[in-house]
Amino acid sequence: MFDFSGKRFVVTGAASGIGDATARQLISAGAHVVSLDRNEPTADVATHFPVDLADENSIDAAVDRLDGTFDALLNVAGVPGTAPAETVMAVNVFGMRHLTETMFERMAPGGSVVVVSSTAGFGWQQRLDTIKKLLATDSFAEAAQWFAKNPQEGNAYNFSKECATVYTMTMGVALHDMGLRINAVLPGPVRTPILEDFRQSMGEDNIDGAENLLGRHAGPDEIASAILFLASPAASWVNGHPLIVDGGLSGTYLTGLVPLPQI
Ligand SMILES: NC(=O)c1ccc[n+]([C@@H]2O[C@H](COP(=O)([O-])OP(=O)(O)OC[C@H]3O[C@@H](n4cnc5c(N)ncnc54)[C@H](O)[C@@H]3O)[C@@H](O)[C@H]2O)c1
Repeated sequence: MFDFSGKRFVVTGAASGIGDATARQLISAGAHVVSLDRNEPTADVATHFPVDLADENSIDAAVDRLDGTFDALLNVAGVPGTAPAETVMAVNVFGMRHLTETMFERMAPGGSVVVVSSTAGFGWQQRLDTIKKLLATDSFAEAAQWFAKNPQEGNAYNFSKECATVYTMTMGVALHDMGLRINAVLPGPVRTPILEDFRQSMGEDNIDGAENLLGRHAGPDEIASAILFLASPAASWVNGHPLIVDGGLSGTYLTGLVPLPQI
């Protein structure tokens, strides 16, 4: 579908699920793929550097090992709400933001960043002022301190994805000024190892209800192809955009056709 010959990508989360599907699609399209994950990928990536995205120093050490410039950074790694809230926020928000901002100077002109957020962050508008306060922090450590002092109601995973979506939307113009782009993909439920954790933390009825409504969950390749689109020149004027990829679920929920699940 895309030709990424000669293009260089950094992919987090490439060892499993959506990141694995993304790495495989990129490799098939001719890209040079560098994996950053705590686990070793099975896809035939050019290089893999182990990293703990919950640890700022580990991110810095991994970025120091990268050579050259990159056409895209794809932030796919994430942890579910079954993990401790600090870990969820560290990986899904603080580490993702730290890696993204550390990579700016290594991005090739016209390069782009994709953040895999989630439809679970649909409540961002209700919490926008709070999210902006968190995102006004200047560093991983400061953000972690802010979160320790300002614990949030409900599932930390949802809050983390609200922050990831708002981060992407608020950074669009700043990246435009750098000659770059940033976008998010917001999947609904996807058949990957994390889904069992979502059934525990969001409720089996909610996850199974989505499957009943549509007849199936997404496959990881269906999310990966949206990530590739946003990272491609075909999306050259798409910036700061949260792209919902959920088979139509959000449309029915957000317009009230079907009651919003209590996740
Ligand atoms: N699967 C779904 O239903 C679904 C729905 C919406 C959003 N998402 C998001 O999609 C992204 C990918 O999830 P997935 O479904 O492929 O899950 P997955 O569990 O299959 O893959 C997650 C990957 O992230 C890596 N990772 C986790 N913590 C890490 C850390 N501290 N340091 C380095 N790497 C780490 C894991 O090793 C793994 O390779 C996540 O951000 C997730 O929140 C998934």
